[in-house]
Amino acid sequence: MLLETMVSFKDKCIEILEENRGLVILLFCLPASFFFNLFLQIRRSVYRYLFSSPENHNERVQTIQLAVEQWNKTPKMKRKLLCTSRPNWLSLSTCFFQKDKCHQVSVDLYDILEMNEKNLTIRVEPMVTVGEITKYLIPKGYTLAVTLEVADATLGGLSLAAGMTTHSHKVGLYHESVVSYELVLGNGSFVIASAEENLELYRCLPWSHGSLGFLVALTLKIVKVKPYIQMDYIPVNGMKDYCDMIRMASGDLGEENACPDYVEATIYTKNKAVVMTGNYSDYNPNLYINHCTKWYKPWFYKYTEKFLKKGKHSELIPLKDYLLRHDRSIFWVVESMLPYGNNFLFRLLFGWLLPPKPAFLKFTTTPGVRAYTFTKQVFQDIVLPIRKLEEQIIISEELFDAYPLLVYPCKVFNRGPHSGQIKPPKKEYMVEGTNYAIYNDLGIYGVPGFVKRKEKYNPVEAMRKMEKFTTEIGGFSFLYADIFMTKEELEEMFDLKLYDEVRRKYDAEGAFPHLYDKVKPEIDVFEVGRQFKID
Ligand SMILES: Cc1cc2nc3c(=O)[nH]c(=O)nc-3n(C[C@H](O)[C@H](O)[C@H](O)COP(=O)(O)OP(=O)(O)OC[C@H]3O[C@@H](n4cnc5c(N)ncnc54)[C@H](O)[C@@H]3O)c2cc1C
Ligand SMILES: *[C@@H]1O[C@H](CO)[C@@H](O)[C@H](O)[C@H]1NC(C)=O
Ligand SMILES: *[C@@H]1O[C@H](CO)[C@@H](O)[C@H](O)[C@H]1NC(C)=O
Ligand SMILES: *[C@@H]1O[C@H](CO)[C@@H](O)[C@H](O)[C@H]1NC(C)=O
Repeated sequence: MLLETMVSFKDKCIEILEENRGLVILLFCLPASFFFNLFLQIRRSVYRYLFSSPENHNERVQTIQLAVEQWNKTPKMKRKLLCTSRPNWLSLSTCFFQKDKCHQVSVDLYDILEMNEKNLTIRVEPMVTVGEITKYLIPKGYTLAVTLEVADATLGGLSLAAGMTTHSHKVGLYHESVVSYELVLGNGSFVIASAEENLELYRCLPWSHGSLGFLVALTLKIVKVKPYIQMDYIPVNGMKDYCDMIRMASGDLGEENACPDYVEATIYTKNKAVVMTGNYSDYNPNLYINHCTKWYKPWFYKYTEKFLKKGKHSELIPLKDYLLRHDRSIFWVVESMLPYGNNFLFRLLFGWLLPPKPAFLKFTTTPGVRAYTFTKQVFQDIVLPIRKLEEQIIISEELFDAYPLLVYPCKVFNRGPHSGQIKPPKKEYMVEGTNYAIYNDLGIYGVPGFVKRKEKYNPVEAMRKMEKFTTEIGGFSFLYADIFMTKEELEEMFDLKLYDEVRRKYDAEGAFPHLYDKVKPEIDVFEVGRQFKID
């Protein structure tokens, strides 16, 4: 009897929790996330002020080499493959790579090493974050050539995975701004990979996800900047019209020099979008200045949406605010956790608690929560040829019906066959007279319409269809998000010929996990898909 009462009490509690998820998040999760983050930041600052020592970089690298040499001395049969000891919950990737199955080597490298203003480069250790480098560079009048919008991403992680911004239609993906990588290989030796030496290795490091060696330093391009971005918000009706405008602004029709410095579009419904173009600018007294990252300001995509009704608008945004404009609402992900989060009063009182930190969310994710978000939410960034933008939107609506959609245009270069994991763009996508094609990141985030309406929805089937479409038209998925492919399917989407050769040549085979094993979800996605079919 008592047991029954307790069970029904527990059920009741769960029901209350589920119905008032927003309240629970406000009262418990946000403050906890806030203090969790505060703790991480203090720890980081203490390190920065007390222990930062760029001059000891070489010694730190030698320690890593020693650890790898030591590992090489253990019998082959007993060895586990190598990985870094950075806890998985600190990584922004949505999957939970099981580090305990690997031999972990500590690669604690957090220092900015040297800036070269003549050559416009900066050499850093891999764990420096986007937030830290931005803080360091902007006061000096520079920023990374490809500066991502997530402050917590690491410069090393991005270079071995992928990164893209609203400036990528000019400079390409993040790895195009990497001048050289410094690595410790699986046999303990140290190499530099750049366009001048170890070219094949240099080509295969992006999208390798740490499966070729330990990264110990990298040199990145930087660019001179002005203090503001002049933003134009252009509302457009009609799918063909807004797609054409995005293509024109991103240089798909040629005339690269006429393109604005920053291009982004947010698609609110199949037929309505706001295209945003931005140029570097000095102060201009005639324009309103929007400090859009202040805690009481409306969420950026909500602010932008207003121009669908109000019409075209121009303003200045301070550069740092511009770069972090999507931070507080994590694009539009926070809305599903906190439906009233953009309410004015809420922002005024609690806006400073946002965003919930990805590291905290991952740290506290139980298998149950993971299974829930895995099947009830979509979180994907997919790189697709911009000439197929209309088809992308139609199929995304068919499979997920999740709006808004994010579009960031991006250059993809043709470096010939088997020149890295990214396949050369098809002929029909190439911009005439150049060696590149314009692609775009299609960001699909949030709760699918089918789930909201409690209709039938099989996440695995939907995702696999999206991946099939992506491969067919020559696109590729960001691998930080969950993938639903078999190894063979991954090998079809990407070109792993050179990668496999490089793995053999540089002693990564038998030392580091293969790319597929590094990025596949820890959940058996095919089993999940089958269960949905039976239900
Ligand atoms: C909320 C959110 C928003 C995002 N927004 C954007 C966006 O706007 N634009 C965009 O391009 N991307 C975006 N991303 C994706 C992000 O770019 C990727 O997740 C990126 O990989 C994050 O870097 P990280 O520092 O977490 O890398 P990690 O996941 O830590 O590293 C990537 C891989 O490299 C390996 N690795 C890392 N360091 C080393 C090393 N020193 N030696 C060997 N191997 C190493 C890791 O094991 C891992 O496999 C977003 C992700 C999230 C969760
Ligand atoms: C700048 O780059 C050039 C060419 O890559 C190189 O030869 C030169 O040493 C670099 N200059 C400095 C100061 O590092
Ligand atoms: C931004 O710069 C480009 C290229 O110089 C130019 O064509 C465009 O008109 C500019 N846009 C604004 C809003 O100033
Ligand atoms: C490690 O592998 C690299 C690349 O194959 C090779 O150049 C180097 O000599 C090797 N080092 C040792 C110590 O075996």
